[in-house]
Amino acid sequence: MPTQDHYWSLAAADYEDLFVDPYRGDVRGNPLKRTLRRLADPANRVVADLGCGIGPLLPFLAKHFKTVYAIDFAEEMLNRARERVKNRRNVMFNSASFLDLNCLPEPIDVAVAVNSLVLPDPAETDEALAEIRRCLNPGGWFLGIVPAMDAVHYATMLLVDRALAAGLPIEAARKNAAHHNDHSCYDFAFGQFRFQGLHQQFWQPFEIRYRFRRAGFVVKQIRKVRLSWKQFAAGDELQTYPPPWDWFFLATRA
Ligand SMILES: C[S@@+](CC[C@H](N)C(=O)[O-])C[C@H]1O[C@@H](n2cnc3c(N)ncnc32)[C@H](O)[C@@H]1O
Repeated sequence: MPTQDHYWSLAAADYEDLFVDPYRGDVRGNPLKRTLRRLADPANRVVADLGCGIGPLLPFLAKHFKTVYAIDFAEEMLNRARERVKNRRNVMFNSASFLDLNCLPEPIDVAVAVNSLVLPDPAETDEALAEIRRCLNPGGWFLGIVPAMDAVHYATMLLVDRALAAGLPIEAARKNAAHHNDHSCYDFAFGQFRFQGLHQQFWQPFEIRYRFRRAGFVVKQIRKVRLSWKQFAAGDELQTYPPPWDWFFLATRA
């Protein structure tokens, strides 16, 4: 059976069409870059972009840090990312899984993971967190964004109410919401999202606190990153409500 890196590689060509984008101009309150600027030092500090994907963050990191290690286990993602920063000499690429970061030749000051800490097996998530912690300097920082499971419940609630307001009976309203919100791809109890062979963990905030503490991190901040309604089904009709979110986290090595 093909492994997850295979499916992530397949997703690289159409990445922009397939995934919600937390860097869009109309995404409000994304503290990622602001926080990275605070942690940056172009003369001294080393950062790792874990699961860099097609590399949207790499030009920013290259400007604000001395060395950037761009890591991903999907070759096709790395190929697109390399193209994006071909003129930057301080970005080093590595094909690696979060379960084994021995490719990093030095300890890092900051690790960033944007929508990439999505391993479907919780035991592997714990292993990945321990591995990321191992690579950080004492006092090092780990920050990023994870997809939010509770935001899917929120969007579902609004979609059900929208259908009820349009006069649908409750069963039809639920069916309508499930259709627009791709419920067939979710396992709500276990926080899983399955789509085009990709199996991803979607997070609840309590799970961020729980797993990070267990792995030896001190969680300093968990905040909503409000996404753009433009990227959600029926978003145009729900504009009066705050949009769904992903979770931003900031943690330090205990
Ligand atoms: C949704 S994309 C996000 C990419 C990028 N961080 C961004 O913000 O656009 C997730 C990326 O993480 C990578 N990834 C997922 N699980 C990984 C793992 N266990 N080890 C290494 N890379 C992983 C995938 O290959 C993919 O490129």
